[in-house]
Amino acid sequence: MAHGDHLKHTGKPTKGKKTFRRLVSYLACDRKLLIVIGVLIIISIIANLLGSYMLRPIINDYIIPGDFSGLVRVLLILAGIYLVGVVAVYVQYILLNKIGQRTVTRMREDLFNKMERLPIKYFDTHQHGDLMSRYTNDIDRISEALTDSLSDMLSSALTVLGIFCLMLYISPILTSVTLVTVPLMFLSAKGIVKRSRKYFKAQQESLGAINGYVEEMISGQKVVKVFGHEKKVEADFDVLNQELKSKSLSAQFFSGLMMPVMQNLNMLNFVIITIVGALLAIYRGFDVGGLAAFLQYSRQFGRPINELASLYNSIQAAIAGAERIFEVIDEAPEKEDEPDALALANVKGDVRMENVYFGYREDKTILKGISLHVAPGCKIALVGETGAGKTTILNMLPRFFDIQSGEIAIDGHSIMDVQRESLRKSMAIVLQDTHLFTGTVRENIRFGRLDATDEEVVEAARLTAAHSFIKRLPKGYDTMLENDGANLSQGQRQLLNIARAAVADPSILLLDEATSNIDTRSEILIQRGLDKLMEGRTSIIIAHRLSTVQNAHRILVLDHGQIIEQGTHQELLAMKGRYYSLYKEQFE
Ligand SMILES: Nc1ncnc2c1ncn2[C@@H]1O[C@H](COP(=O)(O)OP(=O)(O)OP(=O)(O)O)[C@@H](O)[C@H]1O
Ligand SMILES: [Mg+2]
Repeated sequence: MAHGDHLKHTGKPTKGKKTFRRLVSYLACDRKLLIVIGVLIIISIIANLLGSYMLRPIINDYIIPGDFSGLVRVLLILAGIYLVGVVAVYVQYILLNKIGQRTVTRMREDLFNKMERLPIKYFDTHQHGDLMSRYTNDIDRISEALTDSLSDMLSSALTVLGIFCLMLYISPILTSVTLVTVPLMFLSAKGIVKRSRKYFKAQQESLGAINGYVEEMISGQKVVKVFGHEKKVEADFDVLNQELKSKSLSAQFFSGLMMPVMQNLNMLNFVIITIVGALLAIYRGFDVGGLAAFLQYSRQFGRPINELASLYNSIQAAIAGAERIFEVIDEAPEKEDEPDALALANVKGDVRMENVYFGYREDKTILKGISLHVAPGCKIALVGETGAGKTTILNMLPRFFDIQSGEIAIDGHSIMDVQRESLRKSMAIVLQDTHLFTGTVRENIRFGRLDATDEEVVEAARLTAAHSFIKRLPKGYDTMLENDGANLSQGQRQLLNIARAAVADPSILLLDEATSNIDTRSEILIQRGLDKLMEGRTSIIIAHRLSTVQNAHRILVLDHGQIIEQGTHQELLAMKGRYYSLYKEQFE
C-alpha cells in the first residue's frame, strides 16, 4: 500500500495531505488567535536565537579579555531575553489550548449535527460502538495533536529557518557542511512518515472495531450469559484485542524509528562541524565565540527536526482520527427538502399508497406493489407472517426510507413533495422495539410534544392506561428512567411509548405491535385507551394477535411483501383464505 501511495503521489495531493489541510481549515476559524500565537512564537524564537547568539560576544568580548563587570551586565540582559522567551511560550500554550479545545468542540458539533441528519440506513449498517469511538478516541487524538504539537511544529519550522540564517551569517563554510546531513534527515523522515501513516489509520480502525464489539457485548450481556458464551466472547475479544495490539505496534515501530534515526544523523552533523570548525579556528583564525555559538545552533538545528519527527507520531494519529471523522461528516445526509416543498398543516389523515416497491437493498425487493387507502379517521390493520413486510410498510410513511417506485400520498400530497419535518409531525409511531431516554417519566412522555403541559402529559397517560402504573412508581411522574428504562417492565415501557404518541396528538397514528408485551387484562385497558386515542385519527396498526384488530375498518393480509387478501373481519372469514386459517390457528 505504501508503494501504491507513492505512485499516486505524482498527481493530486494524497488523502493524508487533504485531511491535514481540512484539519487546518477547522483551525482557521480562530484566525485572530492564530495570528497572536504566530507573533508569540516569533518572539520566543527570536529570544531563543538571540540568547544563543550572545555566546559569541560573551566569549569574545568579555570572557577572553576578562571584563567581569561587563560580563555580569550582559548576563543580566541574557536572562531578560530568556525570560521574555519563556513568557511568550507560556502564553502561547494557553492560547493554543484554547484554540485546540474550540476546534474539537466545533468538530464534535459538526459530527453530531451530521449524525442527526443521516438517514436511518446509516445506523442500520454501522456499528454503534465504532461510531462512538469517533467521538471519543478520534477526537482525543486530534485534541492532543492540536494542543501539544501544533505550536511545537510551527515553532520548530520557524526555528529551523531562523537558525539557518544565523548559521549562514556566522560561517557560510560550516553551514555548507551542515547542508550535507540535513537533506539526509529530511529524506529519512519522509520515508518513515509515508510508511507509518497507514498503520495509524489501521490502529484507529481497530480501536473502533473493539469499541463496537464491547458495546454490543455490554448490551447483549444477558444473552451471552444465558447461552453460556462467555468463553467464546472472550476469545473473540482476544482476537480483536491482539489485532489492535499488533496494529499499534506497527504504528509505533515506524514512528519510533524516527527519533533514533534523527538523533544519529544529528550527532553525525555535530561531530563533522566540530572537526571542521576546530580546523577552521586553528588554521583560518575563526573566532572561538563564533564556533561556540555555531555549535550551539547546529545542536538546536537538529532539535526542531527531531521534534518534528516525534510530533509526527501524534500528528499521524490525529490525521487518522480526522479521516474517520470526516468520513462521517462526508456521508450523504437525508436528501434536503425541495425548495418548493409543501409544509403539511391541518392534516386530515388521508393516506394512500399506490403500487409501492421497496427494498432495503437494491437487489432485494421487500414490498412488491403495495396499494392501500385509508380514509381520514379510519383504522386499518396489517396482519401477516413474521417477515411479511408489515413494519417495512410503516417505515415508508415517515420516510425513514424512500420508496423505489410507486407513490405515497397524504391528503393527496405526495410525501416526496412535502417538508420532512411537517410530514413526521403529522404522525406518531409506536415502534416494535421501544425506546426510552435517560430522564424522568414525565420528560419521556413529553418527548412526543415538547410544549405539552404537565396536565396534558397526565391526560395522555390516563388515556393510554399508563397512569395507574406511573402512580405506583416510587416518585410517580418524576421517577428517573435510566438505560432505556431498564427499571421498568417491557409492558410498562410500551405503555410509556403509547402515552408519548398520545401526547403528540397526531392526525395519523402508526402502531407496530403496540400491545404485544402486555398481559390480557392490561391489554383490554390499553385497547380501550387506544380505541379512544384512535378515535377520529387515521390509524394503521400491526398486530399478531388477531383479537386486537377485529374492529378495524379494513384488514390487509400481507404475504412476502404483497397484499393477498383484504376486507373486514367478517368478509375475510367468509373468504376462507389465509386470514381464515390464521384466525383458526389462534382461536382453536
Ligand atoms: N433494516 C433492515 N435492513 C434490511 N432488511 C430488513 C430491514 N428490516 C427488515 N428487513 C427485511 O425486510 C423483510 C420484512 O421485514 P419487516 O420488519 O417488515 O417484517 P414484519 O412483517 O414487520 O415482521 P414481524 O411480524 O416479525 O415484525 C424481512 O425479510 C427482513 O429481512
Ligand atoms: Mg415488524
